[in-house]
Amino acid sequence: SCVSEYSIFELTDEVKSLLKVESTAHKGIRGRATIIAGGHAKMGASIIAAKGALHSGIGLLSVQSCPHCINIIQIQIPEALILEDENEYVLGSFLNYANQDVIVFGPAVGFANKTVKLLEELLKNYKGQLILDADAISILSEYRELLQLLPKGAILTPHHGEFKRLVGNYSNNFEALVQLKSFCKHHKVVVVLKGKHTAVCNEKGEVSFNTTGNSGMAKGGSGDLLCGIMAGIAPRVKNTFITAKLAVYLHGISGDKSLKYYGENFMTPTTMISNLKEAFIEIE
Ligand code: APR
Ligand code: MG
Repeated sequence: SCVSEYSIFELTDEVKSLLKVESTAHKGIRGRATIIAGGHAKMGASIIAAKGALHSGIGLLSVQSCPHCINIIQIQIPEALILEDENEYVLGSFLNYANQDVIVFGPAVGFANKTVKLLEELLKNYKGQLILDADAISILSEYRELLQLLPKGAILTPHHGEFKRLVGNYSNNFEALVQLKSFCKHHKVVVVLKGKHTAVCNEKGEVSFNTTGNSGMAKGGSGDLLCGIMAGIAPRVKNTFITAKLAVYLHGISGDKSLKYYGENFMTPTTMISNLKEAFIEIE
């Protein structure tokens, strides 16, 4: 075909219109998201991801995390519901996700057997939009039989270290792109390969590069924010390739605004959350 394999993401009116809701909107229109994240001494991952979804317009937000994280999360994020059951180890349980439009699984969930089992059950049984990040990607690299269960249209958001664990080592960006296209085509998934000029690839092997963002974002927690933003817009955007590209773009704008206000050193994923408002104003 005459469509190029490579493009640069540009915000169009058509993309902007995907986030608009009617004046009669109820929260179901904006969608329901569940963030499964956070573990011992890493509960911040769940808080940052959850805030990302919340401030990206999600209608109803649920968080599933480890038992000792839950009170902190409720204090930090009063808007969030906590998903739980009678089991003590809440992070590892497959719960009732039937009405959830999107699930993020992975930031700081760790590698306990129950967590691996939960990922397997999500891959097998969850029918909505699945976004896999961080430890979820490392679990897939370790338990490679799970790769065969990846549902069509799932979104994976590895950084280069995580992607190399998945596909094997590579030594330059060209080799990375070859691996990226072949992985997406083979598994029929969307992969967001993060870094400077994050590359987003779809099931057909089409790659879109992002141009927003800066090195002030190279701090622990900014990846957690990205998958939260993705969950926040996913139910309205619906198309997984556009969801991934638009989230990466908005995340980069929030970083660029934070750089402008706070500078490279002071800025953090938390300041980026507050600057997300300007990223959204740009597209409203
Ligand atoms: N320019 C633009 N964007 C950048 C740059 C840069 N130079 N560096 C990083 N970013 C963006 C990436 O594109 C990505 O969106 O910041 C985000 C970083 O995400 P991750 O690499 O997933 O980092 P994060 O998960 O927040 O880090 C937490 O994860 O793998 C572990 O050891 C790692 O402790 C770390 C933890
Ligand atoms: Mg990460």
